[in-house]
Amino acid sequence: MKPTKFMFAALAAAFSFTLAASAQDAKLPPAATKTGVTYATDLKPIFDANCVRCHSGDKPKARLRMDTLEGILKGTKQGAILTAGDGANSLIVKAVAHQLKDKDGWMPPMPNRAGAKTLTPEEIGLMLAWINQGAK
Ligand code: HEC
Repeated sequence: MKPTKFMFAALAAAFSFTLAASAQDAKLPPAATKTGVTYATDLKPIFDANCVRCHSGDKPKARLRMDTLEGILKGTKQGAILTAGDGANSLIVKAVAHQLKDKDGWMPPMPNRAGAKTLTPEEIGLMLAWINQGAK
């Protein structure tokens, strides 16, 4: 088959589509569409199951306490781990979505003995919605 103008156009379209797709954060799942997402009703069960074992008590890892909303909003010894209203740019989301360059920051660390599991895209989507909605 002789290459036609149409074929070049289709190729160019496919190529620019690929570029556009890779320009976004392919790894970040969409925020949940649920409204009224709160720490108490939606996030606490996820954090209790996968984070609190290491991030609570007298010597929480990175000095981050995740057993209360207050502790989460306080952040680590280095400061805040989230920006209310901006889930995609919050450290806590980058940590669970494996978007940090330093893999030591990928949370929860795998493997671990805390019974903590890598968060599912749905759980990360809920976290995004929670922060986007103000991290209440
Ligand atoms: C098995 C223990 C363990 C579990 C479970 C765990 N963490 Fe961590 N977390 C750590 C350690 C250790 C560090 C310090 C890592 C470092 O500074 O390199 C840390 C650091 C962090 C940081 C700061 C990262 C940074 O780059 O400054 C965040 C945010 C965090 N954890 C969130 C979470 C979340 C959210 C969960 C649950 C989904 C979780 N962690 C589960 C041990 C754990």
